[in-house]
Amino acid sequence: MSVVARVEEPMDSDTAHIPVLLTEVVAGLKPADRGRYVDATFGTGGYSRALLDAADTQVWALDRDPEAVAIGRALEAATGGRLTMIEGRFGSLTSRLDALGVGAAGGFDGIAFDLGVSSPQLDTPERGFSFRFDGPLDMRMDADGPTAAELVNSLPEARLARLIFELGEEKRARRVARAIATAREGRAITRTGQLAEIVRAAVPRGQDGLDPATRTFQALRIAVNDEIGELARGLAAAERLLKPGGRLAVVSFHSLEDRVVKEFLRARAIGQPAPSRHAPPDPRRRERRPSFRLIERRPVAPGAAEVAENPRARSARLRIAERTDAAPFDDGNGNGNGSGRGAGNGHGRASGGGHGRDQAEAAAGRVASGPSYGRAPRGSQRLGQRHAYGGLQVCRAPGIGDWAGGRREGVG
Ligand SMILES: C[S@@+](CC[C@H](N)C(=O)[O-])C[C@H]1O[C@@H](n2cnc3c(N)ncnc32)[C@H](O)[C@@H]1O
Repeated sequence: MSVVARVEEPMDSDTAHIPVLLTEVVAGLKPADRGRYVDATFGTGGYSRALLDAADTQVWALDRDPEAVAIGRALEAATGGRLTMIEGRFGSLTSRLDALGVGAAGGFDGIAFDLGVSSPQLDTPERGFSFRFDGPLDMRMDADGPTAAELVNSLPEARLARLIFELGEEKRARRVARAIATAREGRAITRTGQLAEIVRAAVPRGQDGLDPATRTFQALRIAVNDEIGELARGLAAAERLLKPGGRLAVVSFHSLEDRVVKEFLRARAIGQPAPSRHAPPDPRRRERRPSFRLIERRPVAPGAAEVAENPRARSARLRIAERTDAAPFDDGNGNGNGSGRGAGNGHGRASGGGHGRDQAEAAAGRVASGPSYGRAPRGSQRLGQRHAYGGLQVCRAPGIGDWAGGRREGVG
């Protein structure tokens, strides 16, 4: 592997984001000369730069956030055609690459996902992601679909409780939802500071030392951006895009995300054996060979030095897998086939135009209506819903995860 000159271009120090598990991700992807890589979460470009620096690679970078895309455009200009920046979501990755004529399916040597939000997103109060600053309660990565304010002001209390419980893994979700419902009777909740105070007043700081608002903010952000549905669509796209021997690296930041990645890879690494000779014939059932090989059985966590330097790395977990030459489980038409467990409906709700209650309800639709997007936290039945477990179902994109608002992008 040749090491090419470092890609240098100006970067605003205010927008600095320290890439998490960078060394491990790059080592996992094994960048090589003439290799073709996708950085599916460009952010401020930490992974893209490292992939471009490590060898004479070509990188296609994706981000749904126009501000991240603007950073990418500047890097594009500095790389002499080695980087191509694409604005879009995971769900549109394949179609965007197709449109660029890069022979999307089976053409890539590595794909990286660094999930969640970037430092510029978190640290800009106007984006409304953080409970540490006061700003508009927005949380949209791409200014599309309902805002967090629309969700908290219009969802019925019970649905809000479910959302906070399941996406925030907040045990005191009912109490938080009650406090929100009471507060919004007085005046609409429009600011991050306002919501943070309502949550802090409702639930005490736990032994983990976390700000009590952490889990509620996480839940709203995931719902607003359909993060779990997007992750499912992204993993399915990666399965189709990688060539045999190509590597997938996914960094997740909370257990809900990691569970989806783990279950996706576990199902793909196990495959689906041929049915017993004695079982009744099922024309829909196909034998599936494993489409991925796990590189590490357990996720890679950052070392103490990285966490000391960058506390945001604390909860990061990296999973790496290698594509085999088997056909993808998901054929791109929503006919992905996991192990046959569960019964996800596969019909997401596309939310139409307009704002307010209808759209917010659509945004929370999958929370309220059942089929899963992740393992429900222990005891969730108390919130009145049976949960089909979702790792495998979640990967039946498209259509999964459309409970989050905004336009619906099919798997491209
Ligand atoms: C944690 S940051 C990535 C940081 C990046 N690795 C770096 O070194 O700067 C995640 C980025 O992914 C983007 N993102 C999250 N979900 C996305 C999705 N579904 N489609 C496209 N981009 C997404 C966010 O907008 C954000 O910029």
